[in-house]
Amino acid sequence: MKVALGSDHAGFLMKEEIKKHLTEQKLECFDFGTFCENPVDYPDIALPVVEAVRSGSADFGILVCGTGVGMAIAANKYRGIRAALCSDTFTARCSREHNDANILALGARVIGSGLALEIVDIFLNTAFQGGRHQRRVEKIALAERRA
Ligand code: RB5
Repeated sequence: MKVALGSDHAGFLMKEEIKKHLTEQKLECFDFGTFCENPVDYPDIALPVVEAVRSGSADFGILVCGTGVGMAIAANKYRGIRAALCSDTFTARCSREHNDANILALGARVIGSGLALEIVDIFLNTAFQGGRHQRRVEKIALAERRA
């Protein structure tokens, strides 16, 4: 599995922890920055992660900022992206099973790294359930085409 990672300055340390965690599991990570705690603008980092997911070069994306809100909003502006802001494991599981989320957004100022890593593991290892959820996801895609 290939995972595209990105964070702003507020999410930098958590992004590094996630990268280490995934690398230890032998997952392939593409790190689109940021690479230090100097301030950057989260939409600039969301974009390359979005592109990696949309092109298929990554299976999933993970975006971290202070709250996760800015990253989720930025990523969800792009067609085909279903970014889920998760601060608990139940939401992470449902975002995959029900929403077929392809990007996980996390808030490094909201949750600790232990919970974040649990959320990451659940997100990456939970399959979309399809069925009635497929129809709903297709309606979102239709709305994108009309926008
Ligand atoms: C940066 O200070 C902060 O605004 C950003 O990380 C994020 O929380 C935005 O949604």
